[in-house]
Amino acid sequence: MENISDATKQFVDLRRHMWMAGVETELRRLIWQIAVTGKYISAKIHESNRKLAGFENIYGEEQLALDRSSDQILQSQLEYSGFVREYASEEQPDIIQIGDGDEQYSVTADPLDGSSLVDTNLAIGTIIGIYRGPLAQVGENDIVAAMYITYGPLITMVYSAGKGTHEFVLNREGEYVLSEENIILKDKGSIYSLGGLRKDWLPEHLEYIEFLETEGYKLRYSGGFVPDINQIMIKRGGVFTYPAVKGAEKGKLRLIFELKPMAFLIEQAGGRATNGTVDILKIKPESLDQRSPIYIGSKYEIEKAREFLSKKE
Ligand code: F6P
Ligand code: MN
Repeated sequence: MENISDATKQFVDLRRHMWMAGVETELRRLIWQIAVTGKYISAKIHESNRKLAGFENIYGEEQLALDRSSDQILQSQLEYSGFVREYASEEQPDIIQIGDGDEQYSVTADPLDGSSLVDTNLAIGTIIGIYRGPLAQVGENDIVAAMYITYGPLITMVYSAGKGTHEFVLNREGEYVLSEENIILKDKGSIYSLGGLRKDWLPEHLEYIEFLETEGYKLRYSGGFVPDINQIMIKRGGVFTYPAVKGAEKGKLRLIFELKPMAFLIEQAGGRATNGTVDILKIKPESLDQRSPIYIGSKYEIEKAREFLSKKE
């Protein structure tokens, strides 16, 4: 398919891109509205309040005031959209009904991913999943769109509505301008990003990592899922893993809020995502707070992960 930017040979903003790519009207409006919240969240980040809010989320993590305000910004934006049925966020214990019940889409959010990096001024992000129907009934492959926003030296937004994965940069006028269209990962990359402590890794995972090391992969791990995935996306390959570890066999990252959206974006860019044996997108969640190990990135690294992980007892 010819790139839209080639066809128009001019400035392409997010709305124009979605329209030209044939994204369905409501989905287009929803993605636009969420992208707009990126501006409000970044304005909050710039207020530089790094204080704790004095609350914990359901995962036992201390919430920053910023975690809570990012969540409130998203929820209130979606409340007035008219086409969102439910909203669920890592920062709230329950699914929130925000529509009449007959809307097509439900939205999940990790409003401020990597919030432990706020005080160090490393890049942080927002992760969004858009699912068809009610969240309690999310099955295999029910995610229809996903996005993430990276708050770094630039604010960038990557989205997919099932028609490729595309990156936009927020310019000074507040427009999301197309920067990378139809991102396609190479079959094999050269960077690896490793969560968990080496001393807690399970033997088959350790063997896999040692294999990557003998192949000469370079270490890239920021401690933020969004910037780490973004690096694989923009460098067109590599692998991120947060594996099962001793004492936490389900890993750390959350299936509905973090993993499925990133798996969707990476698969739309020709990559893969697995828990070691099953594709992340094919896992039917049993609960909202479900965690899962993950291996995500270019084809070669993920096929190798499957090979090593299938050796486990
Ligand atoms: O959201 C959880 C998260 O902060 C991710 O952004 C990141 O990839 C991971 O946890 C980092 O975990 P750890 O501190 O164990 O390396
Ligand atoms: Mn997160």
